[in-house]
Amino acid sequence: MELCFATNNQHKLDEVRAIIGGKISIVSLKEIGCNEELAETTGTIAGNSRQKAEFVFKNYGINCFADDSGLEVDSLNGAPGVDSAIYAGPQRSHYDNIKVLLKNLEGIFNRNSRFVTVITLFLNGEVFQFEGEVTGKILYEKKGTEGFGYDPIFMPDGFSKTLAQMSMEEKNKISHRARAIEKLVKFINSKFE
Ligand code: IMP
Repeated sequence: MELCFATNNQHKLDEVRAIIGGKISIVSLKEIGCNEELAETTGTIAGNSRQKAEFVFKNYGINCFADDSGLEVDSLNGAPGVDSAIYAGPQRSHYDNIKVLLKNLEGIFNRNSRFVTVITLFLNGEVFQFEGEVTGKILYEKKGTEGFGYDPIFMPDGFSKTLAQMSMEEKNKISHRARAIEKLVKFINSKFE
């Protein structure tokens, strides 16, 4: 069976292909002839994830899933959340986003937060959602150079290093995205045994 992953992010495609096994062939947006930027306008992570998958299913008639992620900080009422990529503005700079987040947390003691990913699957007209999370704390300064986004200031619970101080392999064992993908893969594999 062919299943579209509504992304052109090669890293995400590789990650999913590596764990989904041989039964399902994963194709990217480009591979189904979709070269447009998918809208993300619902205001929530779950909503945007569904919006992207639904667009592909309805316009290209192919079974499909999409992901959307963000960082939710308790003492900022869940911000940056759905706006994680553009927290400091439309330039989508990870560096600027971290700067704004640390500024907004100045003097705030509660640094509890979580990364969350929601995957929405459109399969033969039925809709399924899978959520993965990793909880942790926002540090006061950056540590590490691996990963991307907010990784250098996020220390997962149970660890004494940030996501940016982990190898990709280590991060993929505990990350929100990996956990959501694992749930998706388990579901798909159970359907197509
Ligand atoms: P996306 O939906 O996966 O594109 O994620 C949206 C934004 O959330 C990214 O641009 C990052 O700012 C942040 N983000 C998502 N996942 C991660 C992660 O694994 N590490 C650090 N930041 C992340």
